[in-house]
Amino acid sequence: MLVLGIETSCDETGLALYHSEQGLLADGLYSQVALHADYGGVVPELASRDHVRKITPMFEQLLKKANITKSEIQGVAYTAGPGLVGALMVGACWGRSLAFGLGIPALAVHHMEGHLLAPLMEEYQPKVPFTGLLVSGGHTLLVRVDHIGAYQPLGETVDDAVGEAFDKVAKMFGLDYPGGPHIAKLAEQGDPLRFKFPRPMVDRPGLDFSFSGLKTSVMQMIRKLGGEPNNAYTSGVGLSLQDQADVAAGFEVAVVETLALKCRRAMKASGHSQLVVAGGVSANVRLRARLLEEGRKHGFEVFYARPEYCTDNGAMIAHVGCLRLDAGQSTPLDVAVRARWPLSELKALA
Ligand code: KG4
Ligand code: ZN
Repeated sequence: MLVLGIETSCDETGLALYHSEQGLLADGLYSQVALHADYGGVVPELASRDHVRKITPMFEQLLKKANITKSEIQGVAYTAGPGLVGALMVGACWGRSLAFGLGIPALAVHHMEGHLLAPLMEEYQPKVPFTGLLVSGGHTLLVRVDHIGAYQPLGETVDDAVGEAFDKVAKMFGLDYPGGPHIAKLAEQGDPLRFKFPRPMVDRPGLDFSFSGLKTSVMQMIRKLGGEPNNAYTSGVGLSLQDQADVAAGFEVAVVETLALKCRRAMKASGHSQLVVAGGVSANVRLRARLLEEGRKHGFEVFYARPEYCTDNGAMIAHVGCLRLDAGQSTPLDVAVRARWPLSELKALA
C-alpha cells in the first residue's frame, strides 16, 4: 500500500510517501523557524497560514520526486493531534479532501505515535514488546508497548517537557527557538563537571519527571555568575562564553542523567529488553550516547530514528498511516483534530 503522510501539528510542514513493502519513497520538509524567530516561539496563526501556503506546492514537488502521479496514492494519513488546532486543521482538511477526491481511505494519526514508531523505519529496528521514551517539545513520557498501537503510560512529566526545558534555557542565553540544538552546540565547548545541577525527582520512587525546577536552577546560576537571564525586556546574559558553555553542559548532563536513571528503572519495571527513544530531544548526541552506554551496562538494546526523523517530519506520519491503513483501520469523513490526545486512547493495530 502506498500512503501519503501529512504533518502540520506545529511549525513544520512535512509530507512523505511511504510504501508498505518498499519503505519510504520520498519526503519533503519545510521548517517555519525563520518565520517565528522574532517572536521567541511559535505563533499559532502564522503557523496555520504558512501551512496553507506550502502544502500544495510541496505535494506537487513530492510527486515529482517520487516520480508518481496522485492516482497511485492508496491512502492518506494526516496528523490529527496533539498540536496547534489551527495548524492541525490545515493538514487534516487538506488530506481528508484529497482522500475524498481520490476515493481512497484516510487516517487520523497521533503525532506521538508517529514519533514513537519512527525507529521502525530504520534497518536496525526494535520488535514488540519494548519500552518507549518519548521526549519532545511538548511531551516527556515513558510507555510500555506490548503491541503496536496499544500504549500503557509508565511515567510522564508533572510540569515542563524536556524539550521545553531546553527551549527555555536557550531563551535565557538569548538563543533562538528551538533551543535544543543550540544548547547542545554550546555545551560541546563546556565543562560538564563545573556545575552540578539537580537531577529532578531521582531520589523518589516512580517514573514521573519534573524539569521546571532544573530550569530555575540554571536561572539562579546565571545570576550567581554575575549575569542576567535574557527575557522579553532585557537582552544578553553578561556571562563569558566559557561560563555559558559550562552552564549549558551542566544543564544537559543533568537532563541526560535524569533520563538515563528513569529509563533504567522503567526497563526494570517493564521487564523488556528493548528501549525505543523518540521525539525531537532524541536527536541529542549526549543523550543518545549515554542511553546506549546504559543499555550496554544493564543488558538492554536501545533504538533511535536517524536524527532527521527524530524531530517533526512527514515520514513518521506516512509510516504509522501505512501500518494502520494496511491493518484495515480508517477515519470517517468528519474532520476532527485534537489539541490534547492521550496516547493511551489509541487502538491496537490488529
Ligand atoms: O518532536 P519535536 O520536533 O516537536 C514536538 O513534537 O514537540 O521536538 C522539538 C523539541 C524542541 O523542544 C527542541 O528544542 C528539541 O526537540 N530538540 C533538541 C534537539 N533537537 C531538537 N533538544 C536537545 N538536543 C537536540 N539536539
Ligand atoms: Zn513532534
